[in-house]
Amino acid sequence: MADTLTITDNRTGKHYEVPITDGTIRAMDLRQIRASADDFGLMTYDPAFQNTASCRSSITYIDGDKGILEYRGYPIDQLAEHSTYLETAYLILFGELPNAAQLDSWTREITLHTMLHENIKKFMEGFQYDAHPMGIFLSTAGALSTIYPDAKNISDADSRRLQVRRLIAKVPSIAAYAYRHSIGRPYIYPDNDLSFTGNFLNMLFKMTELKYKPHPVLERALDVLFILHADHEQNCSTSAMRGIGSSQADPYASLAGAAAALYGPLHGGANEAVLHMLKEIGSVNHVPEFIKRVKGGEGRLMGFGHRVYKSYDPRARIIKETADRVFEVTGRNPLTDIALELERIALEDDYFVSRKLYPNVDFYSGLIYQAMGFPLDMFPVLFAIPRTAGWLAQWDEMLRDNDQKIARPRQIYTGSARRDYATLTARG
Ligand code: CMC
Repeated sequence: MADTLTITDNRTGKHYEVPITDGTIRAMDLRQIRASADDFGLMTYDPAFQNTASCRSSITYIDGDKGILEYRGYPIDQLAEHSTYLETAYLILFGELPNAAQLDSWTREITLHTMLHENIKKFMEGFQYDAHPMGIFLSTAGALSTIYPDAKNISDADSRRLQVRRLIAKVPSIAAYAYRHSIGRPYIYPDNDLSFTGNFLNMLFKMTELKYKPHPVLERALDVLFILHADHEQNCSTSAMRGIGSSQADPYASLAGAAAALYGPLHGGANEAVLHMLKEIGSVNHVPEFIKRVKGGEGRLMGFGHRVYKSYDPRARIIKETADRVFEVTGRNPLTDIALELERIALEDDYFVSRKLYPNVDFYSGLIYQAMGFPLDMFPVLFAIPRTAGWLAQWDEMLRDNDQKIARPRQIYTGSARRDYATLTARG
């Protein structure tokens, strides 16, 4: 059986044979199909890239029908059980799990880069007292571009590696400063004796104590959440990272754009939107009425549905288990009952079942963050910190891929045909 596709153009009666590789045809192979000599050639129309592969990638594998997620071949549940965020970030970035010496030096390298330039602190002080931390986060990530002009050297592998270390190390510091700024508390410098997540909790919550001691259960829970969010192949923000990076912009500018894409409520802002929704519903008794409104087209059930997963999101299952461990320490989040009832009703309802809408990663993560003491507007920032590893791995892979060029989709022009300029008086 030949791995080719034969196309008949009924406009001309001509036949074309195009190769099929990895279940795809090359869109450029369609360009030869022309109705006339001056025809541009056939294109595909795929708004929102629902059926277009934009790259080859060896980082993350998802089978949306079976609910499978793997980083570099390792199942997400095994990583969540045995790994740490920093080890997983290494795996995502460099392709293999580190040995003990590699993990040691990677951890040391990240720890060395946690401090922010004092000018960045001043920059952050300029934001309104009630600025949304995600707005502060993405602007500050972009501002780092001005501190590290060497990052423009994107064709130098050593320079790229340095920027990767800087960014992975500094995003928790930016996030923590954004939080402290929004509640008017002094910024806390990193404590390099602590783990990656332990230090993050320190920078967020330390008050007058000499040494902050993170609660081990909460520290581990946050680390697991970071593992679950570290990469998710070609989602909206990763595509933004690759798209901006394809113009050879430096990684700080590219990451600021990726974070901006993550901010939206259909993507990383969904965790915050879920909590607003649960608060609005207010009680388990109001759930049926809310579901009725969603089915009637009045808004969406936030935290439900996914472009790729058409069965349960494997991350949601792990998050639900993590929530139980966190609630043993913090007490149960009272909104949990509303979430559970929403899930129960939605999973029995034909509207959601027929559209294959299941809880996604954002449905339960916010309940944990809230129980741990994070304000709602920090939730998208908590998504951005671990996703930094994925964005950078995808950016680096894109730069090393000879198939890639500057990203530039085509369009179908639907505007006016050519017409002559009319002066103001002639326009009537
Ligand atoms: N609530 C109610 N109906 C929904 C929902 C929802 N959450 N999601 C999709 N639908 C309906 C939609 O109205 C459409 O119905 P119909 O065929 O009758 O018009 C059908 O399901 C297909 O929806 P779609 O908009 O074509 O699906 P999509 O693949 O473009 O959107 C999504 C995916 C995640 C943006 C969408 O499911 C959604 O808006 N969910 C809520 C926001 C959310 O939780 N986002 C987080 C995603 S996971 C974390 C991440 O990667 O960022």
